[in-house]
Amino acid sequence: MTVLSFPDDFLWGTATSAYQIEGAWNEDGKGPSVWDRFAHQPGRVVGNQNGDTACDHYHRWREDLDLIKELGLKAYRFSISWPRVMPAGKGKVNAPGLDFYDRLVDGLLERGIEPFPTLFHYDLPLALHEKGGWTERDTASAFGEYARVLADRLGDRVTWWITINEPQIVALLGYLAGMHAPGVRSPRAMVRAAHTLLLAHGESVRAIRSTAKRPARIGIALNLAPVHPVSGRAIDRQAAENFDIISNRMYLDPILRGAYPPNLWRYFRPFAPAIRDGDMQKIAEPIDFLGVNYYTRVVVAGSRLIPFLGGRMVKPEGGEYSDVGSETYPEGLGELLDRIWTDYHPARLLVSENGIAVKDVPDTAGAVDDPVRISYLRGHLAVLHRTIQKKVPVIGYFIWSQMDNFEWSLGYGKRFGLVYIDFATQQRIRKSSFHWYAEVIRRNGLEDMR
Ligand code: FCB
Repeated sequence: MTVLSFPDDFLWGTATSAYQIEGAWNEDGKGPSVWDRFAHQPGRVVGNQNGDTACDHYHRWREDLDLIKELGLKAYRFSISWPRVMPAGKGKVNAPGLDFYDRLVDGLLERGIEPFPTLFHYDLPLALHEKGGWTERDTASAFGEYARVLADRLGDRVTWWITINEPQIVALLGYLAGMHAPGVRSPRAMVRAAHTLLLAHGESVRAIRSTAKRPARIGIALNLAPVHPVSGRAIDRQAAENFDIISNRMYLDPILRGAYPPNLWRYFRPFAPAIRDGDMQKIAEPIDFLGVNYYTRVVVAGSRLIPFLGGRMVKPEGGEYSDVGSETYPEGLGELLDRIWTDYHPARLLVSENGIAVKDVPDTAGAVDDPVRISYLRGHLAVLHRTIQKKVPVIGYFIWSQMDNFEWSLGYGKRFGLVYIDFATQQRIRKSSFHWYAEVIRRNGLEDMR
């Protein structure tokens, strides 16, 4: 069988985020985040679960790093909890919080693994939310200040930085649908939040670049998806274009072209944010790579009854679906990366998240076999290999997730990890996909199954 080989310096990785794994929500001087408060409110999360303990990674990080080393990862993406480092979001720095990430970075480097910190993965300091949060421009300046603190402390050892994870999800689920913290439901708040998040990204790129001691490579992680009309009818095609503009282009265009898509604000009339002189230049501050979080495609059916978007998402028939109901569609990863490369030409691309939720259950011997996950990953890697052959500069691939964790409003029931977590005992169990991925990394490629 032929082997699909990847470039020699390809960055094989996994990803996690602070609130989803750390626990220790109120230890060592950490301030509360919007997620601490949100998850403590009854009815917000399935089963009223919360991230108070999560994977207890704050205390078990050495064991987790040993597993990462055993897996053979070249790179590990984690996020830094802003309120652990700056309990009120600005001003005072919490030394024990910063020390934690300093040790984590050293722990990775000692094990030969490249750290990929993300500065913001949903856990906004509650104190900033109380002053307006992402709807308030000052939050972007506060984020710049926080980025400077991190670059000053870690920038002698960290090369790769991801500013913000999925601004679209924060704006849409946090400020429009109210399904994520802070639970706001307002179209006006949503568009303002999106603009401030983009501004914050730009502020932090500048802050890191001017502060870090070693040359930094900075990017952002966007959740992106190809949008397909359910049929060739004009109404379906129009709806698909609308979805593409407000979910993909609303973030890609400002960052990589320095302008919002033409006509974007007609979707949000009368809620367009106030854009000040200099904002767009700041947002388009050059980045070194674009992180793409890809899980599935979006299929859209047009409808005259739906104002604003002119359509709704539908489940295509005959597909395979994950435990969170998303379709397994590996071709979409190739289509997406090709399109971004052709339309935007970012310096480099990184698959910053890809993975699948499966109902994993240990067998009587305590082993966890997850062939569905292996098949999902294999399919996506085969497509990625083809994309790289076409000279699209993809530098790495990060699986979501290193371990099972707190899946936001869906709680602990949705498992994405290569490592199974028994949340009652905090025991870690390597799934079959863990061994499979270790072998892919060891061979720097995989068998061609087609
Ligand atoms: C992404 C998030 C990540 C996790 C995965 C399943 O949208 O970045 O935190 O929830 O989805």
